[in-house]
Amino acid sequence: MSTPRFADFQRILFFTGAGLSAESGIPTYRGSGGIWAEYDYEDYACQRAFVRDPEKVWDFHDKRRAAVGACEPNDGHRIIAEVQRERAGTSVVTQNIDGLHQRSGATGVVELHGSLWRVRCDREHIVRDDTSVPMSPRKCSCGAYWRPDIVWFEDALDQRTLERAHELLASCDLLVSVGTSGVVYPAAELPRIAMRSGATTVEINLDDTPVSPLYQHRLRGTASDMLASMR
Ligand code: APR
Repeated sequence: MSTPRFADFQRILFFTGAGLSAESGIPTYRGSGGIWAEYDYEDYACQRAFVRDPEKVWDFHDKRRAAVGACEPNDGHRIIAEVQRERAGTSVVTQNIDGLHQRSGATGVVELHGSLWRVRCDREHIVRDDTSVPMSPRKCSCGAYWRPDIVWFEDALDQRTLERAHELLASCDLLVSVGTSGVVYPAAELPRIAMRSGATTVEINLDDTPVSPLYQHRLRGTASDMLASMR
């Protein structure tokens, strides 16, 4: 089966994970050198940890902000943004919180797991953009700590965000999964919506994943090389 070409599709959906940002120098979460190999999410990336020690959780997220802030979008991000400019029906649903899709010019990005560059006060019900590194001040005027607006482990995804993703996946004619291990739910469930609705499906990854057998095309190589091969 020949590799699908973007030019042959009208409603392309890019479903992206940490592997897309790896070439920008941002570590992935799993596998060798993964963030969760070095940091236990129970101490740094769940609500219980935040309640227990918000300063420690913020120190970890400030480190992430500093690291991500020093990185640039890579060719993979740029190709996706270019395809979106060329083909109006193109959408991006990402698990990434790094904001590199937006920095590469992509628009209407659906952020399933929130953003490193947004904070919220759960007492005042305020959500706002924030790009300060380190994050400052860490407390809202009400005295509560600002919380990174990120979907941490044990958190539910935002309902409206999920509904938007469902809509896009149900109506796409080409699904391109890029750099995700497919082990975190409910995000990993989403590609099945496109499969059920008859879309052509492509998985781009360096290696096989537990969901690889579900895809019609499995392109093995770096995100930027494999995306370039579909132009
Ligand atoms: N090009 C293509 N794929 C790559 C590259 C690359 N340059 N580098 C790594 N990969 C692949 C790996 O083989 C792996 O399958 O990217 C995947 C990254 O997997 P994870 O680290 O598990 O990241 P992701 O799937 O995005 O994690 C999902 O888990 O920790 C939570 O909320 C966090 O959004 C995250 C979610």
